Amino acid sequence: MSFPIVRHRRLRRTAAIRSMVRENVLHVEDLIQPIFVAHGSGIKNEISSMPGVYHFSLDTLKPEVDEIAALGIPAVLLFGIPESKDEVGSSGFDEQGIVQEATRLIKSWYPDLMVIADTCLCEFTDHGHCGMVHTYEREGQLCGDVMNDESLELLARTAVSQAKAGADIIAPSNMMDGFVQAIRSALDEEGFEHIPIMSYSVKYASAFYGPFREAADSAPQFGDRKTYQMDPANSREALREAETDVLEGADMLMVKPGLAYLDIVRQLRDQFDLPLVVYNVSGEYSMVKAASMQGWIDEKAIVMEKLTGMKRAGADMIITYFSKQAAGWLRQR
Ligand code: PBG
Repeated sequence: MSFPIVRHRRLRRTAAIRSMVRENVLHVEDLIQPIFVAHGSGIKNEISSMPGVYHFSLDTLKPEVDEIAALGIPAVLLFGIPESKDEVGSSGFDEQGIVQEATRLIKSWYPDLMVIADTCLCEFTDHGHCGMVHTYEREGQLCGDVMNDESLELLARTAVSQAKAGADIIAPSNMMDGFVQAIRSALDEEGFEHIPIMSYSVKYASAFYGPFREAADSAPQFGDRKTYQMDPANSREALREAETDVLEGADMLMVKPGLAYLDIVRQLRDQFDLPLVVYNVSGEYSMVKAASMQGWIDEKAIVMEKLTGMKRAGADMIITYFSKQAAGWLRQR
């Protein structure tokens, strides 16, 4: 009988040797925890489609941030639920806006915790679109076009007000053309040339954002986001989006969602040298939570496997609602 010449199993025989040859390791430093901050007081409401994720008002926020900081998670990503919404999303660039106030508070508690501000209009506009909308009626139906260049000024104002409040990183998620350049020059003009832009470079028009839209109360009131977010069928276009952001001065690139788009993460990793972020979005969280609450899957094993898979695909950082849990599990290792 002839023996196999190559034996892969030699390097898998014990836990010790497996750990020596392991190629990708998830670290707590890779994790970014999103937080939803809501106007009001005494609020700690669980988002029904995202068990374990809450809306916090400013007076209930401290224990959550304490926990994140104690776990060693380096950064939070803030989303705001404002008191009021209007056509242009002015509560998004209000100096006393909910994201601005939360930023100031968190920085006062933990100066070293990085605060990343999501820069978009959809949480703050009454129509729920990520930019300014020109509305009209067609056959009795309300319709609207999202205006690109008109939106840029509002987004730039939002970013500047977030930086003024103390945000360490600006993360624009609006998918207008030219947003990195517009935000970069506005930040520079106001003396924030040192604040990096984490661009949601490749953001698909995805059904995986469903639970987030409940969480952020940001579903579009008419139409959809397909005229600005990308078609899930495309990958060459993703490279063009990323290239544009690089040319406009982005400091980090992002791919969103994660799981169904890890081929895109790999392509960006191979083509660009900037730090790469993957957003493990709300729907990806809800699916795992639902199945694990039914007892159908092993939550910890699944979460660690998928986060490690994102690193293997090329991610340097992962935005995930599982950050706190994953950080806890990493400690037990
Ligand atoms: C805002 C924004 C969205 C998400 C992050 N920023 C929603 C959207 O584009 O509709 C989704 C995040 C998630 O699903 O976890 N534009």
